This record gives sequence, C-alpha cells and structure tokens, in this order.
Amino acid sequence: MKDSDFVLIVDDNPTNLSVLSQALKGAGFAVRVAEDGESAIELVQHKPPALILLDVQMPGIDGFETCQRLKADPLTQAIPIIFMTALTDTENKVKGLSLGAVDYIPKPFEQAEVIARVRSHLQLKQLSDRLEQRVAERTAELAKAQVQLVQQEKLSMLGQLMAGVAHEMNNPISCIISNTIPAQEYVSDITNILQLCQQYYEQLPEAIQEAIAQTDLEFILEDLPNLLNSMQLSTERIKEISVSLRNFARTDTAVKLEVDIHQGLDSTLLILRHRLKSLGQRPEIKVNRQYSPLPKIECFPGQLNQVFMNILANAIDALEEAWQQGKRVDNSLFIEVSTEMLEPDFVIIRIADNGIGMSDEVRQRIFDCMFTTKELGKGTGLGLAIAHQIVVEKHGGAIKVDSTLDRGTEFTIVLPVKGEAQN
Ligand SMILES: Nc1ncnc2c1ncn2[C@@H]1O[C@H](COP(=O)(O)OP(=O)(O)OP(=O)(O)O)[C@@H](O)[C@H]1O
Ligand SMILES: [Mg+2]
Repeated sequence: MKDSDFVLIVDDNPTNLSVLSQALKGAGFAVRVAEDGESAIELVQHKPPALILLDVQMPGIDGFETCQRLKADPLTQAIPIIFMTALTDTENKVKGLSLGAVDYIPKPFEQAEVIARVRSHLQLKQLSDRLEQRVAERTAELAKAQVQLVQQEKLSMLGQLMAGVAHEMNNPISCIISNTIPAQEYVSDITNILQLCQQYYEQLPEAIQEAIAQTDLEFILEDLPNLLNSMQLSTERIKEISVSLRNFARTDTAVKLEVDIHQGLDSTLLILRHRLKSLGQRPEIKVNRQYSPLPKIECFPGQLNQVFMNILANAIDALEEAWQQGKRVDNSLFIEVSTEMLEPDFVIIRIADNGIGMSDEVRQRIFDCMFTTKELGKGTGLGLAIAHQIVVEKHGGAIKVDSTLDRGTEFTIVLPVKGEAQN
C-alpha cells in the first residue's frame, strides 16, 4: 500500500473509532480518524484517503452533509464513501446511497464484514482508477494516431493530385517540344526568303517596302531565333518540372521499389526552388550537393520524398528566421545535402543548414507529434514526427539531429539498402 492509501474513519463515538481502527489495523490497513464532519473534510482536502467510513449521526454537520460536500468538490468526489448506520435504518441506507456512497455497514459492527467490505471497495476503486488511466492513455494515443492518419491521407491525396496534374501536363508539353524543331526550321526558311527580299528592296512594290520599313524587319529577323530558343528552353524546363513532380509524388505501392534516392532529393529541391530564390532583401539560399555513388535503395519512394521535403522545408524556415533575426549578416544562407555509403548495407543522407538552430529543450522534442515552435497557422508540428515514422518504422532506418542554437542544424538519415520492415 502507498502512503496515501489509508482509510479514514469518521465517527463521534470514541469507542466505535477505537474498535474499528483496531480491526482495520489488524487486517493490515493504515488508518486515520476524525471525530466530526468538519475536521474530516479538512483532513481529506489536505491528504485524500483511499476510502472513508462515515457515521451518519454526528454533532455539527452530519454524515449526509459531509458526504454531500465531499461529492461536490471535484478533488474529493472520487473517494469512495461507506456509511455506517443502524441495521434497521432503511431510510438512512437509501439516502446515503443516493448521495453517492458506495455501500453501508450496519451497526453494531461485525469486524470480519467491515474488513471484507473495505477490502473489496478498495480493490474496486483501484481497478476503476487503473481503467480510467488506461482509457485516458488510449484516448490520447487514438487522437495522435488520428491526426497522423488525416495528415498522411492529405499528403497522399496531394501526391495523387500532383501526379495527375503532372501527367496531364505531359501531352501538351510534348506537343510543344516536338513542334519546336520544325517550327525553328520553318522560321529559318522564312527568314532566308525575307532576307532575299531585302536584297531586292528597291525592286519590291511600294506597299511591301512600306510594310518592311514600318515593322523593323531587320530587328525581327535577328530576334526571332533568340525568342524561339528561349521558348524551347522554357518548355524543356516545364518538362523537367513535370517529370520531377511525378517523381516526387510517386504514388506508393504496397511493395518497396528500388530507386535512386538522388533523384528524389533533386526532385524535392526542384519543387522547393521558388523558396530558395532571393526574396526582397534576403539573399538566395545556396544548395550544395555532395553526392557519392550509391546503389539503388529498396524503399517507398514517395514517402522518402516526403521526408526530404519536410526536412528541407524546415531548413528553409530556419534559414529565413536566422536572416530575419539578423543572425546571418555575412549574407551566406546555405543548405548542404550530402550522401555517403555506409559499408556495406546502409546509406547516409545528411541535410544541413546554417539557419537559426535549436536549443537543447527544442531538440529533444522535435520528433514529438504536434510539437512546433512556429506561430499558429504556420506549423502543425507533424513534419518531423511523420519523417521519423517513415524512416524508422517503414524503412527500418534511423534519423538523428545535431544542432547548435544560432549556428545551424544537421539531420542524418541512415537507410538500409535492402528494405527490411515491409509494413
Ligand atoms: N532545421 C531546423 N532548424 C531549426 N529548428 C528546426 C529545424 N527543423 C525542425 N526544427 C524545429 O523542430 C520543430 C518541429 O518541426 P516539424 O517539422 O515537426 O514541425 P513544424 O515545422 O513546426 O510544422 P510542420 O508540421 O508544418 O512541419 C520546428 O517547429 C522547429 O522548432
Ligand atoms: Mg516542418
């Protein structure tokens, strides 16, 4: 029994008190006594007992009133109360039970009965406490799991949407790309003809001469190939983005695939490109890639990309914050992404930034679900919890972090080359 697990006996009759406490002590219970309702309430508030044996008739506030007050206080209402009342007093028994008492003990006392009842009510209370605790724990676990599920569902829907859009973009882009080469040839033919015309400018009808003069034909002929060139480059760029989008959003299959994780890192960086560019006063965030030759990794590629995305987005946030707080006056904001083979069956991916860094207290909690230091509406605190789950549980890998406040952060991910945990 714990120190707080004592039975409080409340009775104005000293003989009753002594008989009962001796019987209970003899049975191994810790016991305290009070001689009236007021002092009982005071004692209970100060040091709550595990169970109360309460006499009905007492001077001052009687047992019923005492019971009512204890049941009205949220701090004391859960303590089981057993009334002590004369065997014949049915009215009192009913009233006591209706006020929230768990049981009654008839007077005169049968010691063995008192002990048995006290014991069984204490056990009941312990069981119900344990049950309540389990329910509270389970409810918290369920709430957490639900948040993660909703988040993952959203991400996977977003992934499907992205893949769909990228796919739909593909046909029109391919059409443009495949037409640019003949278009360039046509334009060059037309240009030749027009240049020829210009050589015979004087012989051309007046209306055509006038039109040539008005349109600045020379400049157009010079500029047109450049224009077509840059259009072709842009189209290729759109094509790259579309491929990256599809790569990034690889809708995950039930089995692991063998993929090049550098491709995943590159797609993710490309998708984040708009956030890396200089913004107002803030300089561009430079990305340094140090890739080592790696074998293909057996993994869920879409999920791994999600991990890279969460870590890289955090790094950009941390760099932006460092800049805003005037901590990077030398204008250098960088992210370094490096990969390395960890002989013979593991690869290491490091993602480092020289952003705002974190304190030890923050560092210890970053993988907790819903832990965020970002303002309301900006961060949900799920990014790293999900990343941890994907790396550790889904891929049998490890993720750790090194960070120094005001200096920067480095995440290290270790992944097995052969996927083990197939869940
Ligand atoms: N590179 C980093 N530099 C400094 N602090 C970081 C870095 N990465 C994570 N943190 C800290 O860890 C916390 C938790 O990150 P996590 O990605 O889980 O949530 P979040 O970014 O706040 O919200 P979101 O769910 O939108 O990602 C962040 O709020 C931040 O305090
Ligand atoms: Mg985040």
